[in-house]
Amino acid sequence: MTTPTEAAAEGVIHLRAAGVSLVLDLRGNGLPAVLHWGTDLGDLSRQDLHRLAEAVTMLPIAAFPDAVPRAALLPEHGTGWPGQPGLTGHRQGADWSPLFTRDSLELETAAQSVKVRATDAAARLSLVLEAGLTASGLVRMRAAVRNDDPDRDYTLNGLLLTLPVPDTATELLDLTGRWCRERAPQRRSFTHGTWLRETRSGRTGHDAPLVLAAGTPGFGFGTGEVWGLHLAWSGNHRVLAERLPTGRPVIAAGELLLPGEVILGPGEEYTGPWLYASHSGQGLDGLSARFHDHLRSRPGHPNRPRPVVLNTWEAVYFDHDLDRLTHLADRGAEVGVERFVLDDGWFRHRRDDRAGLGDWYVDETVWPTGLHPLIDHVRGLGMEFGLWVEPEMVNPDSDLARVHPEWILATGGRTPADRRSQQVLDLTHPEAYAHILQRLDALLSEYDIAYLKWDHNRELVDAGHAPGGEPAVHAQTLAVYALLDDLRRRHPGLEIESCASGGGRVDLAILERTDRVWASDCNDALERQSINRWTQLLLPPELIGSHVGAARSHTTGRTHDLAFRAGTAIFGHLGIEWDLTRTTETERAELAHWITLYKQLRGLLHTGRVVRIDHPDPALWAHGVIPHDRTEAIFALTAMATPISAQPGTLRLRGLDPDATYRLRPLPPADQAPGMERGTPAWCTKGGITLPGTVLEHVGIQIPNLHPEQLLLLRLAKA
Ligand code: DGJ
Repeated sequence: MTTPTEAAAEGVIHLRAAGVSLVLDLRGNGLPAVLHWGTDLGDLSRQDLHRLAEAVTMLPIAAFPDAVPRAALLPEHGTGWPGQPGLTGHRQGADWSPLFTRDSLELETAAQSVKVRATDAAARLSLVLEAGLTASGLVRMRAAVRNDDPDRDYTLNGLLLTLPVPDTATELLDLTGRWCRERAPQRRSFTHGTWLRETRSGRTGHDAPLVLAAGTPGFGFGTGEVWGLHLAWSGNHRVLAERLPTGRPVIAAGELLLPGEVILGPGEEYTGPWLYASHSGQGLDGLSARFHDHLRSRPGHPNRPRPVVLNTWEAVYFDHDLDRLTHLADRGAEVGVERFVLDDGWFRHRRDDRAGLGDWYVDETVWPTGLHPLIDHVRGLGMEFGLWVEPEMVNPDSDLARVHPEWILATGGRTPADRRSQQVLDLTHPEAYAHILQRLDALLSEYDIAYLKWDHNRELVDAGHAPGGEPAVHAQTLAVYALLDDLRRRHPGLEIESCASGGGRVDLAILERTDRVWASDCNDALERQSINRWTQLLLPPELIGSHVGAARSHTTGRTHDLAFRAGTAIFGHLGIEWDLTRTTETERAELAHWITLYKQLRGLLHTGRVVRIDHPDPALWAHGVIPHDRTEAIFALTAMATPISAQPGTLRLRGLDPDATYRLRPLPPADQAPGMERGTPAWCTKGGITLPGTVLEHVGIQIPNLHPEQLLLLRLAKA
């Protein structure tokens, strides 16, 4: 095989991993450009690579530059590139269009990555660009820029990393959303122009694109060729797809910098976030699998069974009372809960959501002897204890805000408008940072706390460092990362959940220092089918908090059977968010049954490959998890609404071993569902049916009649 080093001699580098090739053009002395990103091309000789480069060289047609610009990882107007440039910035209007010359190229053969150093002597800037393939075949890259001028500042406006996609990628998909409706997919044609998604809320956002994918017409979960990217960053960002008549279609992303937010003094450097990009020749499931495999390969990936959580929020809200909570804990332990999480309302002045944030002392009026009696009780029941915090925030009605108003992010000599009656603490202020770290550290040292639910309920709009008011989102984002890192260093083993009014902070950078995300405040199972499905575009199920709520959803008012609620929630990291002290014995027995099932299945559900089925009727959804050895599988068939056809056809199960024969049977307690009394297919009776994997994939099984908002679970095992 040609090593990357050998190929570099010819100016063309071929990186390969897990069925993906990334061919980089380093002929000449400019920045690397992409000749191919997609399906593995096999073992190409140096001559093959050179000819490949020649074969795809664009032509200088009328009105084009004589040397047609290549699709660089960091495009430059200086090469004639007509689209979005990679580096934008200036020195009072000068040095705004850099053209870098490569100084060095380091190849890491084992890591399948390259590091390029380059300078623009005229603009007095230098650049470090890293790009490579992870073991799971994700492209991973980032860039850093340094101001080499000994005297003058450089105002950085942005650093955008770019990947070209083939012309056949004519459709775009990304996600949007809002509180309680996170990660809603949206599609459009990838036509001429720029499709730009920007987040200016100072956090990843309920409406974050999560993944921006370009693909061949009609791509689905199991079909089509797709190329998608994700930016690992929890602050403001820009994600775009651009197709110009004059260049290759590209997808790109970078941090969104506010005016003057990053001004590099002489010798100073800015490093942008990592960008991850996934290619799949088999639809979105293949794209997600690369992200899932990558996350699961991290040394810090949660590797012990994900404990069943009981979160107190929708059970008691702010009504914190020791008797009520110990009773709730008793009920939780009875049904099999393993982690009890005390949500908002435990600290000073926090009797509702208008006061107290910042006063991170246990409220003596509610808890005269501290949290010890509750924690001792919970631990005595054999459960872990978790606590809710919102360290970045402060209520103006708090002791902290009264004593340190200068610690609040503000600009223009005014305080930003309140949101949920709260403001943001400036964690770049050394004393504010030290204070919050000390308070969290003190709580974690005094109490036996295994888990923090780390919330973030206010967008950072209009956020500046007082008193000058300079934009603060970039530095605040880094300060939050540092705070999480410090805390984890001091308390090894502590698990943290990333929550932001539900799923407002879901990205791979926050997940470098947290252990799961709270996907949404919406526990309505119908909504969660969609929210969880699309959150899995990036994250594997074990990182997605998914709770069984009360029969009547607190956020939508819909009512669902327990089978639908629990059958939806077990495909994530299972929790309960329901006042179990107000449930019947029958409900608790049924819930206990589900929890037992989750405990039996979590080993599979949290390590296997996620499959989402494309059914032509949008009312019928199915998804499943198949372990890597494909000896078994769990699927859920869900009626999201009433199917349009009286005979909805067959369910074809993808991802199984075509050479194996499987026994398929419905899985209790979701082995029957309302609606099926009108006719039960053969595979639902007599203990199931035995069929070859090829038949299950290419013929399928008859879909039974299900009432809307009902589901069936299916278990397959090699016969
Ligand atoms: C928003 C979170 O998403 C909820 O789960 C809950 O923790 C509340 N905040 C508490 O204020």
